[in-house]
Amino acid sequence: DFQSEGNMFPRDFVWGAATSAYQIEGGWQADGKGASIWDTFCHEKSGVFENQNGDVACNSYELWNKDLECIQQLGLTHYRLSFSWSRLLPDGTPKNVNQRGVQYYNRVINDLLACKVSVMVTLYHFDLPQAIQNLGGWKSPGVAALFNDYAKFCFETFGDRVKLWITINEPHTCAKLGHEVGLHAPGLKEKGTAAYMVGHNMLRAHAMAWHSYNSVYRATQKGEVSLALNSDWFEPLDPSCHEDVTSAERDLAFTLGWFAWPIFVTGDYPDIMRSAIETQSKMMGYSGDMRLPRFSKDDPPVLGTADFFALNYYTSRKVTSGGCGDQMLSMKRDLNVEEVLDPSWPVCGVSWLAVVPCGLRKLLKYIKDVFNNPKVYITENGFAQVGPAQIEDVDRCEFYKSTISEVAKAMEEDGVNVCGYFAWSLMDNFEWADGFSVRFGLFHVDFSDAELSRTIYQSGQEYAKIIAKSKSASPI
Ligand code: GAL
Repeated sequence: DFQSEGNMFPRDFVWGAATSAYQIEGGWQADGKGASIWDTFCHEKSGVFENQNGDVACNSYELWNKDLECIQQLGLTHYRLSFSWSRLLPDGTPKNVNQRGVQYYNRVINDLLACKVSVMVTLYHFDLPQAIQNLGGWKSPGVAALFNDYAKFCFETFGDRVKLWITINEPHTCAKLGHEVGLHAPGLKEKGTAAYMVGHNMLRAHAMAWHSYNSVYRATQKGEVSLALNSDWFEPLDPSCHEDVTSAERDLAFTLGWFAWPIFVTGDYPDIMRSAIETQSKMMGYSGDMRLPRFSKDDPPVLGTADFFALNYYTSRKVTSGGCGDQMLSMKRDLNVEEVLDPSWPVCGVSWLAVVPCGLRKLLKYIKDVFNNPKVYITENGFAQVGPAQIEDVDRCEFYKSTISEVAKAMEEDGVNVCGYFAWSLMDNFEWADGFSVRFGLFHVDFSDAELSRTIYQSGQEYAKIIAKSKSASPI
């Protein structure tokens, strides 16, 4: 249809694809790189599929030229990558700069710009330097100032060329999977406590870095800074049932609101979240703000610290009340909802990924209404393949077409100010706890081949077509 072919997008619409350092780079010890918590997590065999690791991954550290060819083949206007903090600063601090790491990212950035591809850089995508984990990691308040030092180093070193910055990718995932559930590094399972502290320190770290950029670098570098928030779209299982409606609201508050409310609305966590946690705290004998912290006047304010809204969207859930059997303190108990899939939603590859393109449109509208009509970049969205790879990935082609058509509707019909769309991912890569068993790429990577050859999927061709059409036929 007309919209899905890309005709409806403004001429300056950003068409991108995304990756992250640990998932693609390999070279885990190359040229002076320090270890990150994902190196440790994988090497300690903490539960990744078949004990796989990112030691080599797509070897983008050595094969960057191949990635660049893929990027050009798609015709992307933008590429979103992340820096490995411990490749640049092996012990996490700018006291020790690894010049070979600086050279690597300089080359990547310069090559992209030479090919007229703009760069969006994520400073932190799940891979904390192990040296900082050893000091307490994201649970420790001191991490925020260390992150700010790292961010300033990056603005200083690369900000003449990088104009779109994401400080932290998916604080919700880091907090929950890394510190509550233990599926991600550092593998902690401190239920009901650590994740809120981690989220809080991530917000503090983000806000400090945004203020650094704002006061020192913005005037000369003229870039923009935000953080990437992930959320499913949650809607009531039965819209006529009050409990289901409030359960869905609570789910949105605990997922997106947790981080977006302080930054875009009030400077504090959503009331729904605070009161749900306080109720459970009282029942379980925890006093006051022990679990969900208050923002301190001694820190730079968190309200207003995003120049745009960056959204990672993958899936949707229907929500109904109760259903939490947790006897012990936990985030799940605090949230106290039950999430179900609509039987009409196809599930792609991984069990969590129900394919619901229209959920993206609804979530975009919600963001417009609740977070004050911000500029929005969809910084991740994608579709997984599991099992033997299929280059003719017809389902994924359909997925991209219908998703992009939903984005067009959000813009045209709902007036959402969407500025760009980044597919996850440029190529198959190390999918965290699922290792290499789950493929999100627009390019297939043959991990059994020493060359790690990249081959475009049919969905990559489809995406390239959409981009080309949008560039040539933009009405606006
Ligand atoms: C996101 C994450 C990405 C990627 C994707 C697919 O949560 O930011 O790194 O793995 O999910 O699961």
